[in-house]
Amino acid sequence: MYKIAAKYYDLIHQAHTGDIDLFCQLAQATDGAILDIGCGSGRLVIPIAEAGKAVTGIDNSADMFAVAQKRIAEEFEGKAKTAELIEQDILTWETDQRFELILIGMNTLMEFDNQTVLGLLKAAAHLLAPNGKIIIDVIQPFIMASLENEDGGFAEDEALDDGGRKLPMWSGWSADHEKQQVQIKWRIQDGGKKVEFSNLFHYRYLDQIMDYLPAADLQIDTVWGNYQQEAYDEESERMIVSLTSRSA
Ligand SMILES: C[S@@+](CC[C@H](N)C(=O)[O-])C[C@H]1O[C@@H](n2cnc3c(N)ncnc32)[C@H](O)[C@@H]1O
Repeated sequence: MYKIAAKYYDLIHQAHTGDIDLFCQLAQATDGAILDIGCGSGRLVIPIAEAGKAVTGIDNSADMFAVAQKRIAEEFEGKAKTAELIEQDILTWETDQRFELILIGMNTLMEFDNQTVLGLLKAAAHLLAPNGKIIIDVIQPFIMASLENEDGGFAEDEALDDGGRKLPMWSGWSADHEKQQVQIKWRIQDGGKKVEFSNLFHYRYLDQIMDYLPAADLQIDTVWGNYQQEAYDEESERMIVSLTSRSA
């Protein structure tokens, strides 16, 4: 999926910064190691490392990994680096390391289908230090469920700002609400070429996420509805779930 998207990922998400403040704040309050599962372009890893915290990012997309590697090399040139990147699938990664804070950041959980999501939660639980926390951040499922298929087409969005160069952008989606899936699509005019890519997201309600937790030996600690840490309800913008181990 990220073969084409990796180049535009940071541009598309440049206005999405509230999570960075929240995750840096949570990282600051953490004494031990931090893991960012599905670290993508390093959007979260870099500010956390810049705040002086030891953070490991893992991602299985070679294209996203290359973006993160380049950004980290540039940002930390000549400076002590506390970020480590691992190009691996979280479902098969083996390590003896344990983490105090594990982030499954912006919508990453939604990339896992119903066959793999429990594997993700079990992998995160296995990597969690006693008394550590896992934080999952996804789009409010009720927002996802409200997306109606128009004509399957694209609507014009705000142009992307690539260092002063404006790239016209369109986006759209096709939803299959019976399967709780939404395919989000982007089209970008980059100079003389028009590029298109899409991503399939699986949305889940809070009680559906809770159903997976006992098998992963996890429990809900708290649920926020936005990056200001206000309580979650059906009107919230985001669903941010904090989990702890049941057996800690
Ligand atoms: C929506 S992006 C989020 C990226 C980043 N966390 C952020 O906040 O910008 C999801 C990322 O998860 C990665 N990913 C998906 N499945 C994975 C897996 N099984 N193992 C490791 N990374 C995975 C994708 O390659 C992608 O970079």
